[in-house]
Parts: sequence; C-alpha cells; structure tokens
Amino acid sequence: MGDLFVVKTDGLAAGNGVLVTTDRAEAVDAVRSYLSGDAFGDAGRTLVIEEGLSGPELSILAICDGSTAMALAPAQDFKRLGDGDAGPNTGGMGAYSPVPVATEAVVDSLMANAVEPTLAALRGRGIDYRGVLYCGLMFTPDGPRVLEYNVRFGDPETQAVLPRLTSDLGELLACAAGGRLGPEPTFDDGAAVAVVCASEGYPASPRTGDRIAGLDAASDMADVTVFAAGVGADPDGGLVTAGGRVLTVTGSGPTVDDARRRAYEAVAGISWPGMCHRTDVAATPTGD
Ligand code: GLY
Repeated sequence: MGDLFVVKTDGLAAGNGVLVTTDRAEAVDAVRSYLSGDAFGDAGRTLVIEEGLSGPELSILAICDGSTAMALAPAQDFKRLGDGDAGPNTGGMGAYSPVPVATEAVVDSLMANAVEPTLAALRGRGIDYRGVLYCGLMFTPDGPRVLEYNVRFGDPETQAVLPRLTSDLGELLACAAGGRLGPEPTFDDGAAVAVVCASEGYPASPRTGDRIAGLDAASDMADVTVFAAGVGADPDGGLVTAGGRVLTVTGSGPTVDDARRRAYEAVAGISWPGMCHRTDVAATPTGD
C-alpha cells in the first residue's frame, strides 16, 4: 500500500470525523473542509498532526472505580463502511468477542501499561473517574498503541461483549459508582458477533423514514439479540429508520463462526429500502 492519510477532527463529530484514505488530494480536501468549519463546524477547526498507525484494532472497555479498573472481555470493531475495510470510516459497522489475539496476558499488559496509568493520571488531575473507560488500541508492528479513549461504552463493541457477560452488570456498575470494584466480571466461553445495519447514505447523509420489516421474527430467533438505535415509530404503526446506524444484530454461539452464522441469518430476515451492512464482520478473527 502507498501512503495512508488519516484526517481526524480534534473535537467531537458523532463518530464521523475521521477520513482514512490513500488519495492525497482527498486528504487535502478534507483538511480544507474540516479547518474551514464547513464539514464539522468547530469540531474540525483544530488540526492535529500525529504518527500514522496501522494494524489490527482492539477495544477494551474498562470499568473504573476512581482508582482501580477491570477489563470486560475485549472486542474488535469494524470501522469502515464496506467489506474488506473499504469506504469511509464510521462509528462502527460490526464487532466480535472474544478476539484471539487478545489473550489474558495481552489484556493484563494493556491494562497495566495503558489503562491503569491513564486512570492514575486522571486521579493526579483531581478527576475521580468512575464508570467505563473505552480504550481503542492498535497492534502496530512496533507494539500496541492507544488510538483513543472514550468515557462511555463502545458501540457496537458493547453489543458483542455484554451478551457474553455471565455476572451481574448492575452490581459491577454499582460497585464502580460506589468507589470500590467488586468481583471480576465473568464471561461465557462462547462468542458473540454484532452486525450493524445502517441506512442508505450512512455515514455522510443517512436517509431516514424507511419502514423496517422483519424485526419481530429476527428478535424471536434463538441466540439472537437485536439492539435498536436509530429506530422511530411510524405514525401509521410499525417502525421506521431514524438514524444512520439503525440496528445492531448480535448472534451468539460456541465459536465465532457459529455466532457469525447466527447473526447473518437474522440480518437476512430484516430489510428496509437501502439497508446496508458489512458481510465480513468477524470473517477472519485477528490472531486465528
Ligand atoms: N465503535 C467505536 C466507538 O464506540 O467509539
């Protein structure tokens, strides 16, 4: 591959402020439109130049109580719109868990070398951070690097992680909020694969108002959970699309392949005009 250009807004852009391209002219145009405020308003007016990174990504959702943190099962996100990582960056088009490359030893090391020092630095600034710290990492040829932190759960990673949780989420969060983490969360030995179904035009200009068909039947399938995001009520009854990422359909099973099959069986029964989704989520789990 030739040069890779990544242009990212410094401010918040609802998951849409990143362009990844090998086309220099496209990158230059993006920088102009970000800096002018045309593309993302004030969120794009600051330009930050950083080292370009490449490699498989990993998301760790760490539950923090202000001084200590525990990792939930790691997940991998599929950020590009199209199969084979083609097309624009999005908020995430799918995710799966577990991720073979993220062994317990790898996660322990990421917690010790990234998440815990970050929590300590927050404490040093007088910030008693309790809740979820989302750590987005990349395994580069030079080792793991943190790409971003978010102070929230990840989407759609959470839809691939929480279906595997076998301990009590409420207790976990209540302990974190109370400033004293309780027992480690536990996860089943199986897998979950989450596939995002998006509106036509997502991420640039998603069309809304399309009638969604097949949702009830998909929701009733065994080992399938359908999460609604950009969904609204049709005044005439039924449900319509009301955002870019409309649904996340999660399949569960003993292996990533089983979970993937289940997720895509459910997705096949859902439709609306212009619905789009990736067909290769978890097709080649990293590290297999
Ligand atoms: N899936 C990326 C995020 O939640 O920020």
